[in-house]
Amino acid sequence: MTGIALRSENLSRSFGGVQAVAGVSLSLPEGQVTALVGPNGAGKTTTFNLITGNLRADSGTAEIRGKPIMGLKPWQVARLGVARSYQDLRLFTHMTVRENVLAATETSSWFWQPGGRRAQQQREHRAESAMEATGLTALADARAVDLAYAERKFLSMARILAAEADIWLLDEPASGLDLSSRIRFGTLLKDAQARGVAICLIEHNLDVVVELSNRIAFLDQGKVLAEGDPQTILKDPALAAIYFGDRPQEAA
Ligand SMILES: Nc1ncnc2c1ncn2[C@@H]1O[C@H](COP(=O)(O)OP(=O)(O)O)[C@@H](O)[C@H]1O
Ligand SMILES: [Mg+2]
Repeated sequence: MTGIALRSENLSRSFGGVQAVAGVSLSLPEGQVTALVGPNGAGKTTTFNLITGNLRADSGTAEIRGKPIMGLKPWQVARLGVARSYQDLRLFTHMTVRENVLAATETSSWFWQPGGRRAQQQREHRAESAMEATGLTALADARAVDLAYAERKFLSMARILAAEADIWLLDEPASGLDLSSRIRFGTLLKDAQARGVAICLIEHNLDVVVELSNRIAFLDQGKVLAEGDPQTILKDPALAAIYFGDRPQEAA
């Protein structure tokens, strides 16, 4: 039996007249990759922002292993074991790779291991392991701004790894990666999955979704239209029509 690491119920948020998220209920089981799929503007990123406390929900709830998280600040949600990446990466561009990764270790280390030289050494060790796992060791002293596109994506993943969180919310981490980088990325996900991490992956490329995810939640106009195993969801012609922009005319 796998536990549900994170659950949301009926999350909603609008911006002016736009209902960006309209009652999203989502469960992320431990050790599984849930792909959050849907057309542009479906509300995927906003759903992440509501969960992580980057945006306040109009209504709805979310909990981490039964602990309510609505109203918490992003750093408080992070301390409960949630690591997230951003579509635009949000690296410290003028800091080195190592400094970027070290910064991601801060939250949990000051919480779990207050002060001391040993805690600092452990953080450094975690940063080195994260750089090694993402293939960035040789670039540890390079500035983020000088990295190639794929290396920046892996730096963002190294920050996720270094946070040692057991819930990962990844916003298009594999977009624009070539095949060999995607395989490297897939290995990171599979290793995390094997450790029981609950992963939610926003991804547009359906080949990547099939390759990497166990489950799909299909989002459109702020609502989860379907949730289930990838093969079943992707075979549904109505969802395919929405995904590929061939939406049926709405009744006037
Ligand atoms: N901060 C914001 N202010 C106003 N509108 C927003 C904001 N964030 C998102 N939206 C709108 O909410 C909808 C969902 O956006 P988003 O969650 O980014 O979609 P996705 O990630 O699925 O492409 C879009 O119509 C978008 O323009
Ligand atoms: Mg988005």
